Amino acid sequence: MAEHDEHSSFIKTPQQLITVVVLSFVVPIFGIIMLVQLVLNKPSADPGAMTPDAVAARIQPVGRVEFGAAGPAAGAAPRTGEELVKTVCAACHIAGIANAPKLGDKAGWAPAIKRGLPEMLKAVIAGKGAMPPRAGAADATDLELTRAIIHMANQAGGNLKEPAVAPAESQAKPAAKK
Ligand code: HEC
Repeated sequence: MAEHDEHSSFIKTPQQLITVVVLSFVVPIFGIIMLVQLVLNKPSADPGAMTPDAVAARIQPVGRVEFGAAGPAAGAAPRTGEELVKTVCAACHIAGIANAPKLGDKAGWAPAIKRGLPEMLKAVIAGKGAMPPRAGAADATDLELTRAIIHMANQAGGNLKEPAVAPAESQAKPAAKK
């Protein structure tokens, strides 16, 4: 009988019994805790990921169309020459792309300045060489183009004055002119 007991159980001492009893409680409890943790943590890897803002940012469209966003809004003050030069003309005239007279280059600008502002304006409106009509700024008014020309010409040794333009004229849009 004693021999049989020896084979039927590996628990031989009270310490072993206690260890086995304790482990038989602790191990399943640990297992349950870890399962619960797994289930609770799964959807919220990033706690901020499901906030309405974060969701909206994720599903926002790749592009949107905004009407009337480009160029000066109707009734807005015409842009200064400097503004237009910085945003439009500088693209070509800083580096002198395709023989565009460079900003501040007196020799480069002298011939155009000599031809005079009306001729320069005509050239810009109609396009010249690699410069597209209206210098590519289809929304720019004649006044804005004039100011931009004056800004660049005066940086390069010109001495042109801002034209006195009637307020109505200053707001004239390209399509409305001529
Ligand atoms: C796409 C490049 C480009 C942009 C943008 C551009 N220009 Fe030009 N511009 C040129 C080139 C190239 C020339 C030289 C044309 C030629 O003589 O063949 C030129 C020449 C000119 C001239 C001299 C015209 C003449 O009578 O010889 C003026 C004035 C001028 N640009 C004004 C402007 C103004 C003002 C803007 C911005 C509103 C502007 N450009 C934007 C390329 C550009």
